[in-house]
Amino acid sequence: MHISFASILTVAALVGLASAKKHDDHGHKEHKPKVPKGKAFDHILQIWFENTNFNDANSTPGFSKLLKKGILLDNFNAITHPSEPNYVAAGGGSNFGIDDDDYYNIPAHVPSIFDLIENKGLTWKCYQEDIPSVGYTGDKAGDYVRKHNPAISFDAVGLNATRLKNIVGHDQFVKDIHNDKLPNWMFYTPNMKNDAHDTNISYAGNWLDNFYKKTLDHPNLLKKTLVMITFDENASFPQRNRVWTLLFGDIPKKLRGTIDHTFYTHFSTLSTVEHNWDLGNLGQQDVNKTVSNVFKHTAKALKYKNVHIADKDVPWSNNTITGLMTGKSYNDTQKAI
Ligand SMILES: *[C@@H]1O[C@H](CO)[C@@H](O)[C@H](O)[C@H]1NC(C)=O
Ligand SMILES: *[C@@H]1O[C@H](CO)[C@@H](O)[C@H](O)[C@H]1NC(C)=O
Ligand SMILES: *[C@@H]1O[C@H](CO)[C@@H](O)[C@H](O)[C@H]1NC(C)=O
Ligand SMILES: *[C@@H]1O[C@H](CO)[C@@H](O)[C@H](O)[C@H]1NC(C)=O
Ligand SMILES: *[C@@H]1O[C@H](CO)[C@@H](O)[C@H](O)[C@H]1NC(C)=O
Ligand SMILES: *[C@@H]1O[C@H](CO)[C@@H](O)[C@H](O)[C@H]1NC(C)=O
Repeated sequence: MHISFASILTVAALVGLASAKKHDDHGHKEHKPKVPKGKAFDHILQIWFENTNFNDANSTPGFSKLLKKGILLDNFNAITHPSEPNYVAAGGGSNFGIDDDDYYNIPAHVPSIFDLIENKGLTWKCYQEDIPSVGYTGDKAGDYVRKHNPAISFDAVGLNATRLKNIVGHDQFVKDIHNDKLPNWMFYTPNMKNDAHDTNISYAGNWLDNFYKKTLDHPNLLKKTLVMITFDENASFPQRNRVWTLLFGDIPKKLRGTIDHTFYTHFSTLSTVEHNWDLGNLGQQDVNKTVSNVFKHTAKALKYKNVHIADKDVPWSNNTITGLMTGKSYNDTQKAI
């Protein structure tokens, strides 16, 4: 599956090159393929918090205050425990067997959303608070951690100097908003204190309240970006892995302050993005209909038919999932990079 998909990508890339070249030979002005317009949105931003149960987030003022601005997804689920496999899944459509928070190098032939986005001429950035330098590949520095970065573990990104330029800090997010230069696909990881990991949900709520007022509440962002606040995982392993999730920004006005009970997972975000721009797919859980319902309010524009999953059939998503990288962590050997 991986190999055949990679070769499809290669063939597609070669065909793309060939046609660009041909164009040149005919003496025409070289132009890039037309960047598709989003069917339901032109920009998406995910902001991930850490390790909190649904009700705890829902009763914390910094989070609950935003309910009136958005659609609460009260049946959105993480895919496993602990943190890292959830972040990796958000980029690759699978946890690839990662079942801990170690330093992984997912082989460069494994495609991720970053390939799909770039193949269409669209843009992406991961904003990682406290990252010590643009494209830093180390494991940890201050309150920045690699395990909460959805792109870096993919060698196709993490070992490519050009792509590493898309992994930037909070300062760049503020600049991109003010310069009206937001990429199409964005991921924002608050640092280990602000995301509740090393603190608690009330600390994170206070941070979010400030972050909303100072940074997010800007027309350049909210008018044209579907913003999603979510959590990597629930805090209780023996419970269903449901996480508090809110959509706001570029959503229909009439849906502000509503609740959507559709069953979603982190794969739903991938699936929504893939259908929004006709990106194709990763052939992973992003195409598993059970776990990849698209956000309901976009389904019509995306011409996607969601499946109904009865409560009794909702997977608990609290178990280890094995795969390609099982047992392949480089652990401390790579931490000095
Ligand atoms: C690195 O990424 C850039 C931008 O996506 C791409 O054009 C280039 O082919 C990549 N290089 C390698 C060696 O994969
Ligand atoms: C939450 O975390 C902050 C910072 O670590 C701490 O000052 C505060 O006492 C904590 N609150 C609770 C309720 O644990
Ligand atoms: C998942 O939840 C079930 C039901 O509570 C429990 O039996 C199981 O041990 C949990 N799995 C893990 C890995 O905690
Ligand atoms: C998440 O954890 C909390 C606290 O243990 C629990 O009440 C809840 O049922 C869990 N799952 C969901 C579906 O929120
Ligand atoms: C699709 O997802 C469901 C729920 O997690 C799982 O039981 C099933 O095995 C998955 N199917 C495939 C083909 O991965
Ligand atoms: C990673 O390294 C630490 C420290 O040497 C060790 O305790 C731990 O067992 C290692 N984990 C894995 C998965 O190899």
